[in-house]
Amino acid sequence: MPAIQIHDKLFKPYLSEELIKSKIGEIAHRIEKDYQGKTPLFIAVLNGSFMFASDLFKMLHHPAEICFIKLASYKGTVSSGHVITSIGLDVPLIERDVIVLEDIVDTGKTMHQFLPQLRHQQPASLKICTLLHKEESTQFPVKIDYRGFVIPNKFVVGYGLDYNGLGRNLNELYELYE
Ligand code: IMP
Repeated sequence: MPAIQIHDKLFKPYLSEELIKSKIGEIAHRIEKDYQGKTPLFIAVLNGSFMFASDLFKMLHHPAEICFIKLASYKGTVSSGHVITSIGLDVPLIERDVIVLEDIVDTGKTMHQFLPQLRHQQPASLKICTLLHKEESTQFPVKIDYRGFVIPNKFVVGYGLDYNGLGRNLNELYELYE
């Protein structure tokens, strides 16, 4: 695969479609084993997770529900700054086995702020599944239950992730040339 240009930046191939798919297959298999006799509810966080969520859901041979949400950040009235709110979460979580699907966990801030809102609804269980984890960048520790790849602190695009709106349609992951 050759390097590609998106806007003003060059990106080089990083993780192939084949590798990504095989890792997602492993995650699906683990989830099937862990949720025997249960019907998990996946909450996929848009926009970035749409491809991951779709492929994982297709590979899951197990009863499961899925809903898609968007997280919006707004300036709260408290001095702590921005507050995260979810749009589209229209399924009651009480007594459900919830699995949050993320494309990437970077500093952990998004999940750190969002998870307490989910816990507030008293799900039976709450787990996090992310395709990518920039573990070195952690500023807000989040327990990740299923993760595809631990990656260094480099900017990546493709497979749902974007650089200023572009690159989401690439079937593989690219990293920034430095
Ligand atoms: P966190 O709150 O710092 O964990 O950031 C998570 C969000 O940052 C993700 O949902 C992405 O939208 C964005 N993000 C972090 N790193 C990258 C990257 O390398 N490429 C594209 N988006 C990224």
